[in-house]
Amino acid sequence: METKSSGYSAWSLCARVALAGLLAAAAFSVTPNRAQARDQVEPLTFANPGGVHRTFTSAGAIDTDNPFFQDLGTNGRTCFSCHRPAQAWTITPGEVQQRFERTQGLDPIFRTNDGSTCEGADISTRRSRRQAFSLLLEKGLIRVGLPLPATAEFDLVDVDDPYRCGASFNEVSMFRRPLPTTNLRFLSAVMWDGRETVKGHAITADLATQASHATTGHAQGAEPTALQTQAIVDFEMGLFTTQSQDREAGNLTSSGATGGPKALSRQFFCIGINDPLGMLPAMPGACDTVSPGLETTVFDLFTSWEHSPVSARRAIARGERLFNTRAFVIDGVGGLNGGAGDPVAGPIQNGTCTVCHNAPNAGDHSVAMPLNIGIADAARRTPDLPLYTLRNRTTGDTSQTTDPGRAMVTGKWSDVGKFKGPILRALAARAPYFHNGSAATLADVVEFYDQRFNIGLTDREKADLLAFLRSL
Ligand code: HEC
Ligand code: HEC
Repeated sequence: METKSSGYSAWSLCARVALAGLLAAAAFSVTPNRAQARDQVEPLTFANPGGVHRTFTSAGAIDTDNPFFQDLGTNGRTCFSCHRPAQAWTITPGEVQQRFERTQGLDPIFRTNDGSTCEGADISTRRSRRQAFSLLLEKGLIRVGLPLPATAEFDLVDVDDPYRCGASFNEVSMFRRPLPTTNLRFLSAVMWDGRETVKGHAITADLATQASHATTGHAQGAEPTALQTQAIVDFEMGLFTTQSQDREAGNLTSSGATGGPKALSRQFFCIGINDPLGMLPAMPGACDTVSPGLETTVFDLFTSWEHSPVSARRAIARGERLFNTRAFVIDGVGGLNGGAGDPVAGPIQNGTCTVCHNAPNAGDHSVAMPLNIGIADAARRTPDLPLYTLRNRTTGDTSQTTDPGRAMVTGKWSDVGKFKGPILRALAARAPYFHNGSAATLADVVEFYDQRFNIGLTDREKADLLAFLRSL
């Protein structure tokens, strides 16, 4: 398919396939059964604002009898309640709102253990439900409540809670986006704060524990059996999801481009691959040898489009090149070069997006590396999120944050505000972005980086980066 028009027609065909999927989804009722789950899952190709995304499974077909789709708990939820192929295996506010309308806010995702802003909120009327689940409806956020680690280097001294939940000073409620349960073969840390990652363990072992915790937590169930968690992990590890059609550039595998989920399923990965700092933890799945440093061509999906006759394709190729090579100063990033104890001293003058997003064609960091790029900073707080004031037990210093991140796992003061960089595929299907959904669109993500690192992107560079991110 060389021409723009053929790209368009291929897209509209796929859009029709996806539309059938959406219509099937609309028939979904309060209690999901597996036949209905199958109707929503089967096409595996879905429309989104940027075009179409698709899931490829190495198992050949999606097995909707897998425990991933089963009601293993007591509150009606399944993994599929919050991880859906039509939303690139997470949830989006738009689809959650539709579910609310369709079920009067009674779908199992609307549970007060972690779906509402306050635990155990009043949900007796439709109106109270709309209020109780406001963050889930508006930003697709789930409440993650964690106790302050006993050995924490800090105390929680003040809570500014817009919901007045009557918060204790021993626990913190953090509102986070569900991470996609696809492309997991490229993971180096499990959960935004890496709390399911155990040093030295294989990622698949961490995912098994995660599946068990998800069942006892989100689904309020008993611990699943080892066979069940293994089946869930095998299922998740076989999934690959990417954008497959762009609304302007057409088929993302045309004319030598290697977008799409099938190519991703063949992408090589090992823990530590292409790590700029040469980190190589001892764990199953680690590379055999230390990487010699950063090969900045992290994404090479669209290089063959640099001279395409289709302008939308050239824009994507330019965006890919910008992501790989556009230099800016990276400074003050906790976990990288934010201060004492960090691996790099001082600013990185020729930084790129790929310093942090280094895993080839996947875009996460290839080793566990929690970083603070400032998303949870008090300065970025929006009135819908609680603000926590922490005080260092030794120095008396205070710090305000909407989410202490990694610090709630390690108890370390220096870990406040650190999160993992997620896999950057199928982005167009799953706005909003960042752990707290603070970037409503990919354009907002680009704007965030332009400001945070004073990059000085031109309007055209912004548009190109956006076209690239949308095509992943
Ligand atoms: C009520 C919504 C909800 C349900 C139900 C749910 N999850 Fe999640 N899931 C989340 C949220 C929120 C996160 C991110 C939390 C964090 O990082 O702190 C997440 C994260 C994950 C991750 C981490 C991916 C990564 O990149 O680190 C995996 C894997 C996962 N869930 C699998 C499951 C499985 C398996 C089930 C069913 C047993 C399940 N989830 C049920 C909301 C849910
Ligand atoms: C200093 C490290 C660093 C650099 C440089 C960096 N990122 Fe990130 N990126 C992260 C981290 C960490 C997160 C997760 C932050 C959070 O949610 O708190 C992230 C998140 C993202 C997300 C959101 C993904 C999602 O699923 O929500 C996108 C998109 C993204 N980055 C794109 C870029 C682009 C484009 C650039 C270059 C302009 C870039 N990043 C540069 C570390 C970095």
